[in-house]
Amino acid sequence: MDYKQEIKRRRTFAIISHPDAGKTTLTEKLLLYGGAINLAGSVKGKKTDKHAVSDWMEIEKQRGISVTSSVMQFNYEDYCINILDTPGHQDFSEDTYRTLMAADSAVMVIDASKGVENQTKKLFKVCVMRNIPIFTFINKLDREAKNTFELLDEIETVLGIQTCPINWPIGSGKNFKGVYDRETKHITRFFAANNGQKEVDTIEVELGDPSLDSIIGKDNHDILSEEIELLDGASSEFDEELVRNGKLTPVFFGSALTNFGVETFLKHFLKMTTSPLPRMSSEGKIDPMENDFSAFVFKIQANMNKAHRDRIAFMRICSGKFNAGMEVYHMQGNKKIRLSQPQQLMAQERQIVEEAYAGDIIGVFDPGIFSIGDTLNSSDRKFIYEGIPTFSPEHFAKVRQADTMKRKQFLKGITQIAQEGAIQIFQEYNTGMEEIIVGVVGVLQFDVLKFRLESEYGVEVRLDPLPYEFIRWIENKDIDVSSLGVSSDTKKVKDLKGNPLLLFVNRWSIQTALERNKGLILSEFGR
Ligand code: G4P
Repeated sequence: MDYKQEIKRRRTFAIISHPDAGKTTLTEKLLLYGGAINLAGSVKGKKTDKHAVSDWMEIEKQRGISVTSSVMQFNYEDYCINILDTPGHQDFSEDTYRTLMAADSAVMVIDASKGVENQTKKLFKVCVMRNIPIFTFINKLDREAKNTFELLDEIETVLGIQTCPINWPIGSGKNFKGVYDRETKHITRFFAANNGQKEVDTIEVELGDPSLDSIIGKDNHDILSEEIELLDGASSEFDEELVRNGKLTPVFFGSALTNFGVETFLKHFLKMTTSPLPRMSSEGKIDPMENDFSAFVFKIQANMNKAHRDRIAFMRICSGKFNAGMEVYHMQGNKKIRLSQPQQLMAQERQIVEEAYAGDIIGVFDPGIFSIGDTLNSSDRKFIYEGIPTFSPEHFAKVRQADTMKRKQFLKGITQIAQEGAIQIFQEYNTGMEEIIVGVVGVLQFDVLKFRLESEYGVEVRLDPLPYEFIRWIENKDIDVSSLGVSSDTKKVKDLKGNPLLLFVNRWSIQTALERNKGLILSEFGR
């Protein structure tokens, strides 16, 4: 197949949801329909102590939460699909943001009995920042659900996005029979098979078909007719342009657990969502169809596989085709490198890839040269992709080793974890690396840090919370930090790259620093 056709058939998206809304189950069912797994349920189930393909980290298993993102690729019909899994927990919005940088659209899973939950709101905001198309899958229709109109209204008012239902549920709870397709006016009636472990059986009939009463029940039929009338008068029209700009979300209904509505969703979604989109660079927009390979690093993860003790840089290919062993130019490192043994992930299982195309995510072995946001190019054109902003840490703690003999491992561990971008580390002036200050966006990252230092590097640490809430980098060059006049509750520190910065307990202290030091320039973002 021509490389352009390969790119065209790619669909790269992320799934977001409040924990427990069914993101993992939906992902698994999409894999089931794509033939990537045989028996759904084999990968998930806290009760059976088996875990979803995408939940691989120890801490995720222990707590039943997804804290890092992984990538899965599979084929469905003529499409090649890349699903980016995102952590559901609120403390990991930063990781989600980076993952969304690599996606062309997002699927938002909502629990039909709960509606828009807290974390949905936060993740949705992150999607809006990226301005990408958002598709909604209202899940768990096999349980008692909120009124469908109310659910749509909630999405519109709470999230501020217009909704356009593509299909409509027929009944809910035990009475959930199927969905009505508003465009084709077809009704799909589902029949459960193997508790959702296998694809569902379906019957499809047209609205108005005389057999409809017997297929979905007379009551359901009557309610459906009423609802369709109401809906056609009230809801927004489907508008591709609005969807493309994240202003309108197409809505689907179903039950990931029983597979009801999953394939229907997948088929429509694949048609509606885009093939890889152009990306902004220092030379303007780069077309994915360009012959030359280019990519950017959006995630770095150490020790994904304990047996390998390695570090993987995940990159999204933005244009052209990638061949194994290819020589590329690493823009930020300013040198040529060979990308050997690139890998694609099927969650825990890795496969070496020979070729990959724009839209794909590959993981390459990282000897410690990559940083998040780095650009790789195969051409002589030396552009860099637009950077990925980092969120400023809001919680700080002092980290101390319990066993001072393990200094080397401690420094290695904490530096590597910081390079992944999950935490930021700072050092006080005039002290060695005995005491390190760590800053995180969400407090759960402290637990992850402690856990990972112990399990991956064999280092036990103590974390003592610090009262700082604001961080500002000092922009003035050649400044003598020790002579700066600051309030006594302000701390002077430097980051990994040696840049000076100040930690403040409140906004008032920031003001004091600015007033006492004329010409001082403070910035919220690190370089
Ligand atoms: P998450 O990744 O968004 O956190 O959600 P996940 O898929 O793990 O689903 C959370 C719980 O909701 C699971 O139950 C799952 O089985 C259930 N679930 C997912 N989709 C549906 C659905 O369509 N209908 C119903 N009724 N339940 C659904 P659990 O009890 O936490 O785990 P398990 O032991 O049942 O797997």
